Amino acid sequence: MGKIIGLVNQKGGAGKSSITNALSNEFSRRGYRVLVVDYDPQGTQTMLFGFNRLSEFSDTEHDITNIFNGKDLKPINVKENLDLIPANQGLREEAESGRMGKELVLLNFLKGGFGKKGLAEEYDMIFIDSPADSGALTVGTIASSDYILIPTRLTFVDSTGLVGTLQTVIQAVMTFRLDLSILGFIPVAYKPRLKEHKDVLASLKQTIPQILGRYDFIKIASEDLFFDPINDRIAWAEAAGKRISIRDYIEKEKKGQKDIIYTVEKITDEIIRRTLILSELTV
Ligand SMILES: Nc1ncnc2c1ncn2[C@@H]1O[C@H](COP(=O)(O)OP(=O)(O)OP(=O)(O)O)[C@@H](O)[C@H]1O
Ligand SMILES: [Mg+2]
Repeated sequence: MGKIIGLVNQKGGAGKSSITNALSNEFSRRGYRVLVVDYDPQGTQTMLFGFNRLSEFSDTEHDITNIFNGKDLKPINVKENLDLIPANQGLREEAESGRMGKELVLLNFLKGGFGKKGLAEEYDMIFIDSPADSGALTVGTIASSDYILIPTRLTFVDSTGLVGTLQTVIQAVMTFRLDLSILGFIPVAYKPRLKEHKDVLASLKQTIPQILGRYDFIKIASEDLFFDPINDRIAWAEAAGKRISIRDYIEKEKKGQKDIIYTVEKITDEIIRRTLILSELTV
């Protein structure tokens, strides 16, 4: 069964989609069989993989809302070792519906049970990209995940939003009796020379362990909760605009910025260490 990593932050623009894209590309390059679930009706992740019209998936075998109706859902193969379940605007309607257990639909689809095989069995790594809110799709992402990865920008406003995101995670764990671990926090668009960023990062490194320490049922995947920061670079938006991975963009057009690739590689290595999936690689 693949490890399921949910990227959450209820603040918009935190880097969820960019990092999901970079990591899924990196893991698949290394030979891991990767599935990306775009669980955000905005469909940013789906667009990052080059699909510009979400409506093309409506009422097809790739329509993610099928999982709410017991119909088949097939991922799309986007490159070697990398499959995508694209988003669909119908997700928003499902999230707002009065359906019983709507937060657990993705979990059941990925992990299976009651005689049904879960899709996670076919992969080594599954990344779920979630929306910028604390609604049913974000809670559904948390409920489906073995690990929660939280990217965050480093302004004061972002840091206050982070507490809300943590509360959502804690509440979901309690409500659904989840057995997940916090994989860590990734500081995004960091400007090392900007005082605000430095101060916010230092303060988060102090306050977050304190907050989590109050809930002894919340597991953490590492004592050092913070990954290396990803610096503020326009290349991320440029790669997104071209619908190519950050690595491909840098290797093709920005060779002088290889440090961005090294940061992604280092975060990938660290995720492997924290989830100990090296020995389970099935290729
Ligand atoms: N390290 C970075 N430096 C500069 N810009 C970045 C960086 N990472 C991401 N961005 C840019 O920030 C914007 C928001 O990023 P992204 O879409 O990944 O965030 P998100 O959390 O998924 O947003 P949403 O909540 O809307 O889904 C994008 O334009 C992206 O290209
Ligand atoms: Mg996004």
